[in-house]
Amino acid sequence: MGPAGDMYRIITLGGAYSEVSEGKPCREARAHRTALRVGIASIISRFPTPFHHFRAVNPLLSKLQPYPFEKLRQLFGSVTPNAKFSAISLGIGEPKHPTPLFIQQALADNLSGLATYPTTAGTDQVRRAICRWLERRYQLPTLNPATDALPVNGSREALFALAQVVIDPAAKAVVVCPNPFYQIYEGAAFLAGAEPFFVNSDPARNFAPDFSSVPADVWPRVQLLYICTPGNPTGAVLTLDDWRALFALSDKYGFVIAADECYSEIYFGDHPPLGAMQAANQLGRGYQRLVAFSSLSKRSNVPGMRSGFVAGDADILKQFLLYRTYHGSAMSPSVQAASIAAWNDEDHVEKNREKYIRKFKQVTPLLAEVLDVALPDAGFYLWAKVDKLINISDAEYAKQLYAEYNVTVLPGSYVAREAHGWNPGANRIRMALVAEVDECLEAAQRMVEFTRKLAA
Ligand SMILES: Cc1ncc(COP(=O)(O)O)c(C=O)c1O
Repeated sequence: MGPAGDMYRIITLGGAYSEVSEGKPCREARAHRTALRVGIASIISRFPTPFHHFRAVNPLLSKLQPYPFEKLRQLFGSVTPNAKFSAISLGIGEPKHPTPLFIQQALADNLSGLATYPTTAGTDQVRRAICRWLERRYQLPTLNPATDALPVNGSREALFALAQVVIDPAAKAVVVCPNPFYQIYEGAAFLAGAEPFFVNSDPARNFAPDFSSVPADVWPRVQLLYICTPGNPTGAVLTLDDWRALFALSDKYGFVIAADECYSEIYFGDHPPLGAMQAANQLGRGYQRLVAFSSLSKRSNVPGMRSGFVAGDADILKQFLLYRTYHGSAMSPSVQAASIAAWNDEDHVEKNREKYIRKFKQVTPLLAEVLDVALPDAGFYLWAKVDKLINISDAEYAKQLYAEYNVTVLPGSYVAREAHGWNPGANRIRMALVAEVDECLEAAQRMVEFTRKLAA
């Protein structure tokens, strides 16, 4: 009998099972169930698809690690959080301040754009808005919107896709990543056929990765280096000296620098974080082998709009545009129109930043009573060491906190890898202070109580 016949049999067998076993003694029902299971198994083994697990044909996919939130889901799997407390999540770095109305309005006013296919390069207007923003924000000489910037559907897809453009898959290339890091860098490296090389962030250097720790025999194989400044999760901002050293290495070894700057507009000091293109300009260098990534998600509280840009080396952007044309990553015309409105306005960005400043200034000292934590340079995370008062791992701290106080934080080791003998996320937690201030304060108060109780 062929598969179709088998299929018919299993349907009838299933029907017989429900009819025959109902109301019959247990032993008989069990026999029917067993027969059914055996029948199903024998049929499944004859169908390569869709019953079989799909076997990925790209073996590189098997190198991808579970995302940190998947690990967190597993950690919390068997835990029932204390129902006395409402749930508060500091886990996911998703902006929660409201989206400004004028951006929503600009999107609504341009829905007619849904009727046309966008070009991958975007309109002149959106590229011009991006270039003018870059010039204002980083005091750059005039950029050429035709060559120096491209709109992207959020910085994440572009951070990933750039690796496909600048890495030679035959070269056994190395991609340098900070550690801890945004997991997309690692996946991008693997799927481009390269291997990541992690550079641990150094608490003694305000968490900046120490690139001088990369062995001399690794540099010649490096084709791409990701840097996140301000960093997720550490909040560290690279200094001009850091950039000078990095550019010197790029000039010597010819690798591309991908500067992820999506947290650049949330900062706590008097001066905005130095940007990659700004540093290149201040050092009298062009943008060769430098691509900067930015995003409206955090700046303008529109993570669902999927809007960002890449800017920098015009030769790389030309190849990137070619790649993106095939990849099919053009930005919706409606989103382009709303993005222009957002990039052209700083008022909402200042107000948003003030909210974060107020929140961080209230929450950080409270948590510092029980955790080793300080106000970061920038970004919306606190990167705290949990073993100030107690000897506990990051995962155990997160699990017990969730169980007893219904507060979710992300174990630091989930956003870092063990590299060069240690995991720079071990004993640390990442807290995203994205919710409104009262909720963040409530979470902090619960954490103080929890930690004190553990330490008692
Ligand atoms: C370090 C870092 N880079 C990039 C992104 C991607 O942001 P988006 O794709 O919304 O621009 C995120 C998002 O959380 C991030 O944390």
